[in-house]
Amino acid sequence: MKSFYITTPIYYVNDIPHIGHAYTTIACDVMARYKRMKGFDTHFLTGTDEHGQKIQQAAEAKGMTPQELVDKIHVNFRELWKVLNISNDDFIRTTEDRHVRVVQAMFKKLIDQGDIYKGSYEGWYCVPCETYVPESSMGENRTCPDCGRPLTTMKEESYFFRASKYAPQLIEHYEKNLQGVMPRIRYNEIMSFLRGDVRDQSVSRTTLKWGIPIPSDEKHVVYVWFDALINYATAVGYLDDPEMFKRYWPNVRHMVGKDIIRFHCVIWPLMLLALGINVPVSVIAHGWWTVDGEKMSKSKGNVVDPFKMAELYGADAFRYFLLREVPFGNDGDFSELAMVGRVNSDLANDLGNLLNRTLQMIMNYSGGVVPAAKEKDALSEEVRKLSESTVTQLDGVMDTFSYDEALKLIWVFIARANKYIDETSPWKLDKEGQKDKLATVLLTLYEALRLSALLVAPFIPDSAIKIWKQLGLQGSPLTSLIDDFRWGDGAGSHVAKAEVLFPRIDVEEWKKARAASAPKESVAPATEHEPEIDIEGFKSVEMRVAQVIKVEEIPRSKNLYKLDVDLGYEKRVICSGIKRFFKPEELEGRRIVMVTNLKPAKLCGIESNGMILAASVHEEGNEKVSLIVPASDIPLGSRVK
Ligand code: MSP
Repeated sequence: MKSFYITTPIYYVNDIPHIGHAYTTIACDVMARYKRMKGFDTHFLTGTDEHGQKIQQAAEAKGMTPQELVDKIHVNFRELWKVLNISNDDFIRTTEDRHVRVVQAMFKKLIDQGDIYKGSYEGWYCVPCETYVPESSMGENRTCPDCGRPLTTMKEESYFFRASKYAPQLIEHYEKNLQGVMPRIRYNEIMSFLRGDVRDQSVSRTTLKWGIPIPSDEKHVVYVWFDALINYATAVGYLDDPEMFKRYWPNVRHMVGKDIIRFHCVIWPLMLLALGINVPVSVIAHGWWTVDGEKMSKSKGNVVDPFKMAELYGADAFRYFLLREVPFGNDGDFSELAMVGRVNSDLANDLGNLLNRTLQMIMNYSGGVVPAAKEKDALSEEVRKLSESTVTQLDGVMDTFSYDEALKLIWVFIARANKYIDETSPWKLDKEGQKDKLATVLLTLYEALRLSALLVAPFIPDSAIKIWKQLGLQGSPLTSLIDDFRWGDGAGSHVAKAEVLFPRIDVEEWKKARAASAPKESVAPATEHEPEIDIEGFKSVEMRVAQVIKVEEIPRSKNLYKLDVDLGYEKRVICSGIKRFFKPEELEGRRIVMVTNLKPAKLCGIESNGMILAASVHEEGNEKVSLIVPASDIPLGSRVK
């Protein structure tokens, strides 16, 4: 039996799962389910990427150890996959012992054969973020693109992987294997990168602790990407189960977002070539989702929560929409209203109605039992033939991961069957007593639905099971083989009572409910106001942009911090009553706005030379505070007017 091995990227656990994570995993799930139903010995892997800087920082921010954080957060992904009906065969975590051993073994092998060597890494470094910043992504005046702070040059000892040595071999491989990177636009991107300057890769860090140690040199941990990519090999027994590795590795395919193709289509295959392992059959890159036309971001509050989508519309509707709406590989825009539209037209109308009408007619005209066909006619033959060509064409489009095309094909067939009802008017045949003709029509419709249930099963598994049950069939469509389907075998089945598959959503009601549940702009309660001042009064308050350099606690003070601030032209010390609202690391390095001409005052024995600006409000007995910060880059000392 031919094998098929498919993987999702392993997800960082510093964040909660969002639509991007759901998308790749659903796409892989559909492919895995389809291949199982085509008789492949299928293995489907997903998991979590649990080492590295981001995780260490997220843990620090939450006051947890990295291990505590990853143990807690990875569960969110497992939960989501249950909710979305994901049929993965394995879930790998990079902190598992089985993986740590493989990474260390591969690292050692590459050191031993001279493909990993010790050197030094030099670059622009952001000390607070503990990260190197490539020249191409630096901010103005060599600042960190994330925190805006100045970068310094840094040189550290590092192990390097001889990527450059294997690049010509990989180019040759891709020249012969065009499906190595899909779609073509990404293939071209990778080829031009490979034909450029492929440099040896730094694969260890000494500035970070949360990673897999290199046993021969414990000062170093393995760089997180080198560690993460190896998960694909760990999970199919590279070290522990050579039989399993032999069974699945030759047919491995990785699905990833377009942002991480260099790691998957360059670095990983080069590592594999160095290790003497064959490179993946294909890396399939998908596009990115925006939301209602905008980039998704926490600060905009527009991150699509897949748990919520599944709860509101059902996992199947969400799965269907993501794969039907956008050609795989392209970027797409997520809109709940568009999803409601698809639920109503494709799922409730086309598929739901076909099921409902067919079952009711079999009940009404044939006592709930599917008749055998007595005669063939041109129309029923046309539907049967379309069923055959649909199955064949589906295979072709699934091979190129064209999910939207696959769904279009299936829906053309469903639409054909719906039209067939109108063309044959079974209610008339019944009235006229045309029993044989009616039998053919009912069987044709039943078979169209039985096949449709199989074809939609990879995409909308829960609904396929419901259809199967209503059709009165034994077993499950999910474990059936598509190619075992024989037109006509459904005769004699006893159908069940028709039930609504996808309730229609009333769009006007939906819009009203949306508007009512939209978060209200929060407004501070009305307060007393200060007496009016003139412009001169306002001008007499000198306010400037400054940067917080250092934050220290003041012993015995519950509220005060001692802040060292830099105004560009001078440094000052300020005492500020914001201790209850911010941790020192939330303030250090931040640009703030301060009053610079306030008379110095002694607080807890320290002279305070200014005042930080912050907005504050009392809400339900709690004080809420937000710092006032410049919205864009502006030199220290700039006057605020
Ligand atoms: N941990 C690495 C992958 C290591 S694989 C050896 C990683 N993780 S991630 O959690 O940040 O991202 C995982 C996937 O989510 C990526 O494939 C990325 O493309 C995808 N998406 C993140 N946001 C997305 C959208 N807005 N839309 C579609 N997919 C996006 O990278």
